[in-house]
Amino acid sequence: MTTDKPSITVLGLGAMGTALAGALLSAGHPVTVWNRTAAKADALVARGAARAASPAEAVAASPVVVACLLDYDSVRDVLGAGHLQGRTLVNLTNGTPGQAREFAEWAACQGTDYLDGGIMAVPPMIGTPAAFVLYSGSRAAFDRARPALDVFGESVYLGEDVGRAALTDIALLTGMYGMIAGVLQSLALATSDGAPATDFAPLLTRWLQAMGGWAEAAAKQFDSRDYATGVVSNLGMQAASFDNLHRTADEQGVSSELLAPLGRLMRQRAADGHGHEDLTGIIDDLRKDNA
Ligand SMILES: NC(=O)c1ccc[n+]([C@@H]2O[C@H](COP(=O)([O-])OP(=O)(O)OC[C@H]3O[C@@H](n4cnc5c(N)ncnc54)[C@H](OP(=O)(O)O)[C@@H]3O)[C@@H](O)[C@H]2O)c1
Repeated sequence: MTTDKPSITVLGLGAMGTALAGALLSAGHPVTVWNRTAAKADALVARGAARAASPAEAVAASPVVVACLLDYDSVRDVLGAGHLQGRTLVNLTNGTPGQAREFAEWAACQGTDYLDGGIMAVPPMIGTPAAFVLYSGSRAAFDRARPALDVFGESVYLGEDVGRAALTDIALLTGMYGMIAGVLQSLALATSDGAPATDFAPLLTRWLQAMGGWAEAAAKQFDSRDYATGVVSNLGMQAASFDNLHRTADEQGVSSELLAPLGRLMRQRAADGHGHEDLTGIIDDLRKDNA
């Protein structure tokens, strides 16, 4: 079968790399795959992917190379031997902004156009409208790779600062883990009298959805550094009721360790004279540069 779609190489066939390569195949791209544990390529090869015997062979097969490995060290291990001259490298491996910048310098020394990315999806979401993927780095690399990248989900290009995608990715994951911490704590508490978690979960979902707009309201307050206008739930009140979270957890024999740090910050800020404000000002206390 012939196709006018560009060939893409995918390095790394863990849960995510397999989903990426599968989506490319479904969209009609010729795909070459390589994975350290070769057997993980079998199902993709059965669907038409070409199996490369080495990373060098995989890189040679396509102008655009997508890497999705465990961490940046494993990407270095796999690509360390070079062979990237003239290629466009799209690294969708999770990492820090500093790692992305360091890697971009290394890629430039290899003669490689480099795009860093962060996948905001779990593997079953890849190729569906629910997925979005953050990119930053070379604009030319983004434009060149985009027809293939759009297969994964919505492509969100954040600019030439190569560290921006990783920073945004980690900030989004931070929000997610904060929510997960709250859900874990909440389920521990709600089930402490023997009630099934499934009875409680629909109420929790409803409440979290009702509070979902808070991030944007907080962002507006933070950008203006005005924490005192339009306050509907002042910090003093929230700090006092937050103590009841600890007391209830104690009464019910549940640890409140996941939320304890937030309680400390709220009490401290209220004691510092900000009790009439919203709790958004805590962002200032978290920022070490206090800018
Ligand atoms: N899964 C998710 O929900 C999700 C969501 C967003 C982003 N991500 C990111 O996507 C990346 C891959 O995640 P995943 O879920 O695919 O992980 P995974 O299923 O654990 O797969 C890890 C992959 O890295 C390879 N690998 C690890 N160390 C290596 C080394 N030293 N040399 C060569 N290959 C090595 C593994 O090869 P072997 O098969 O040989 O072990 C495998 O292909 C991670 O950075 C992750 O943070 C994942």
